Amino acid sequence: MAYSSRNQYLSKTEREQAAVLFEALQQAAAAVTAGDRDRQTIIDLVRSHCATVTELDLDYVELVDPVSLLPVEQIDHHALLALAARLGTTRLIDNIVLQTRSPIIAIDGPAGAGKSTVTRAIADRLGLLYLDTGAMYRAVTWLVMETGIALDDEVAIAELVATCDLDMQPQGDGGCVVTMNSMDITAAIRTPEVTANVSTVAAQKAVRESLVKQQQAFGDRGGLVAEGRDMGTCVFPHAEVKIFLTATPAERARRRACDLSAQGYEVDLAQLEADIIERDRQDSTREIAPLSKADDAIELVTDGMTIEAVIEQIIDYTRNDHLSS
Ligand code: DC
Repeated sequence: MAYSSRNQYLSKTEREQAAVLFEALQQAAAAVTAGDRDRQTIIDLVRSHCATVTELDLDYVELVDPVSLLPVEQIDHHALLALAARLGTTRLIDNIVLQTRSPIIAIDGPAGAGKSTVTRAIADRLGLLYLDTGAMYRAVTWLVMETGIALDDEVAIAELVATCDLDMQPQGDGGCVVTMNSMDITAAIRTPEVTANVSTVAAQKAVRESLVKQQQAFGDRGGLVAEGRDMGTCVFPHAEVKIFLTATPAERARRRACDLSAQGYEVDLAQLEADIIERDRQDSTREIAPLSKADDAIELVTDGMTIEAVIEQIIDYTRNDHLSS
């Protein structure tokens, strides 16, 4: 039953009768999950369920956009179903957000802000698919280097990206196996050489168009947490939750140094910081889909925060988004 202070005016019988409103909204949600999108179908369903309690006098049932509150004819991503009814002398109101798909969480930010660890953990805890789009740009960069094509030969790279077979297979531990033309390149795309060249390849129009199309196809059915640079601004502009995760270059260099030493590489901290600043510059000044915070993204500066605290905060935002929308 609708949670409202007005419920206190209802008799015991009326309380039982009022439960029909909640049931009607739940039935509408189930119908949307099953594929119904049409305004009249959904409103009729609510009206006919409410009609089973003859004492209930429906005032209105409305399907509107949750932000603009304008009427919705066909549900695209989500809509607010609201109703008001009279039972005896009490006026009851209730509403529900109808979603056509599971949520998409978009996590953007510069290199070394902790996106991978955080995104992976969120995918695991919320049962969502993990999409590492940086790995896709790395995979294409690896192939360009492997094939011996010059990094600035945009025509040859466009041809290569159009004909290559890139696949991302989620693994049980929340990670992802990356294959290129059936070859497992999961580790090969993390070398410092690929890292040094990836911004140049990722700035090219044909590369971005091709990979964005693939990323959007992954997101078609929702239920996805995607990390990258342009998830919230370009690839998934309708994502339910958008996070911009960042940290100072010094902090990011320190984190990258820890990762690289753990992999057995020798590290020069000052050089790492300079590289990070240069990569930020390239990624945020490129012409197509530059790294930037979406207007409706929540910015999290993670200096001094533990990974666990960052994960908790994002999960909290996700839950609140669902409650408030
Ligand atoms: O997150 P990462 O370091 O693995 O990303 C590798 C590079 O790919 C990074 O320099 C920027 C680029 N990238 C991008 O341009 N757009 C994305 N959505 C993801 C990554």
